[in-house]
Amino acid sequence: MRRKIVAGNWKMNKNVIEAQQLMTQLLEYTMSNKSNCEVWIAPPSLYLMMAKDVFENDEIGVFAQDISTHESGAYTGEISVDMLESIDADGTLIGHSERRQYHGENDESCNKKVKLALDKGLIPVYCNGETLDQRKAGQHFDVVKTQTETALFTLSAEEIKKVVIAYEPVWAIGTGETATPEQAQEIHAHIRSSIAEKYGQEVADEVSILYGGSVKPDNAKEIFSQPDIDGGLIGGAALKVEDFSKIIEGF
Ligand code: G3P
Repeated sequence: MRRKIVAGNWKMNKNVIEAQQLMTQLLEYTMSNKSNCEVWIAPPSLYLMMAKDVFENDEIGVFAQDISTHESGAYTGEISVDMLESIDADGTLIGHSERRQYHGENDESCNKKVKLALDKGLIPVYCNGETLDQRKAGQHFDVVKTQTETALFTLSAEEIKKVVIAYEPVWAIGTGETATPEQAQEIHAHIRSSIAEKYGQEVADEVSILYGGSVKPDNAKEIFSQPDIDGGLIGGAALKVEDFSKIIEGF
């Protein structure tokens, strides 16, 4: 049975008081509500240790938003996979479109980061997705297939089963233009069939593929009901406990 996951990507939001408040609200929610999915958050790196303290019984998974391709050294501003392992973080997002857009991230650097995370026992959440121009040109299937192959297909079957993929069409991120459940499902199925071609259907069926891009309380249930959608990677709606909890209840 594939993992069902709702993960919140906080991006660059919340001061320390607001971060502690939201984490406490999330803890209170998980303590009084049984979820039918795993719940993860990716706060700014500054707050990762706070999150490990608040969720000391692992009520919620704690993830970084990125890691360096380097293991240590003169890389100002970056954080390493060793640092995440040392605070017992659960994993890290890799390849978010905002890292690709503003920080030169690409499928090759993602491949290095995915391997670094797996080698340290961390869960890589590999983000991919096409731009609006690529979709308008009908290139979205090929783009997502290439992103998946380049970043993941050097892994062994055992390794790729540990990877969580997040399909996030760039044109749906932060825009309110959510992909329809059918649009998301057909790309998720395409990603899964690409994995099946390489590793076999049994392995492909074990890989959790999340959808991200304007998931809200009023659309989560229908999106999550699709056969190849195993949850969501949530941005704006993860910043309020009342919205994030309603999305969790979409399972
Ligand atoms: O990583 C999730 C994020 O990119 C989606 O953002 O605000 O469209 O839910 P949002």
